[in-house]
Amino acid sequence: MTDLSVPNLPGGLPDKRQVAASFSRAAASYDSVAELQRDVGSALLRRLPEDFVPAVWLDMGCGTGYFSRALGEAFPAGAGVALDIAEGMLEHARPLGGAQHFIAGDAERLPLQDASCDLVFSSLAVQWCADFAAVLSEAYRVLKPGGVLAFASLCVGTLYELRDSWRQVDGQVHVNRFREFSRYQQLCAASGLNVLDLQQCAHVLHYPDVRSLTHELKALGAHNLNPGRPGGLTGRARITGLIAAYEQFRQAQGLPATYQVVYAVLEKPR
Ligand SMILES: C[S@@+](CC[C@H](N)C(=O)[O-])C[C@H]1O[C@@H](n2cnc3c(N)ncnc32)[C@H](O)[C@@H]1O
Repeated sequence: MTDLSVPNLPGGLPDKRQVAASFSRAAASYDSVAELQRDVGSALLRRLPEDFVPAVWLDMGCGTGYFSRALGEAFPAGAGVALDIAEGMLEHARPLGGAQHFIAGDAERLPLQDASCDLVFSSLAVQWCADFAAVLSEAYRVLKPGGVLAFASLCVGTLYELRDSWRQVDGQVHVNRFREFSRYQQLCAASGLNVLDLQQCAHVLHYPDVRSLTHELKALGAHNLNPGRPGGLTGRARITGLIAAYEQFRQAQGLPATYQVVYAVLEKPR
């Protein structure tokens, strides 16, 4: 994803329409391969303040709505809004329920009124937002005083094994760029929200081979969308090179894929 720690990225930033189209295409396959997403979202739910019961919650970047349903169960008396930029994800999520409203929208320009939410929950979506300061300012705007923003995102170090392996093959951009954790710290500190919790945790998944990993990224809609990524067919020689390079990382459990996850809980001052 967009790595804002690198000034003037060559080729600019991933296009939001491409992000939306990619996730829309992935809606049907997403849940079968979303192990990391489920672990991370569940960990984020456990990080919500104790005894916190939001009357109105927003699941921002709801995807297939797995956590909209979890929020609906956790807060049965509350009213829920599930929002995503990808229509295809909303079409998948809507019939499964969990929230009262399913709306298309952008986390950087929320189609919601000021001070309308008690909780903005967002799991593994804001790494797709180039302007994270805008995401924070929108969360601030729509939260009521005392309301909570809880988000999980990805930072630099994510999929470093794949990135390094590709770099050995052709030196090109094959992995989405991510912000530095320190950038999340700076932007959260400057957001006007009180930072209750902000941590980085590594989650490592294992795969039998490189193909299983790249297939999973595609099924998630999370494969590389960076401008400057190589287009066209991937030649057999380059794939063989990638497999050989990635094998250097092999562990007893298989080929590791590291995700550096940012967990944050912030509160709007009363
Ligand atoms: C990895 S999925 C996570 C979905 C869900 N939160 C979960 O944990 O299963 C990321 C989602 O964020 C959505 N997304 C990406 N950029 C967005 C934006 N600017 N505004 C709203 N949603 C966005 C994508 O369409 C996708 O459905």
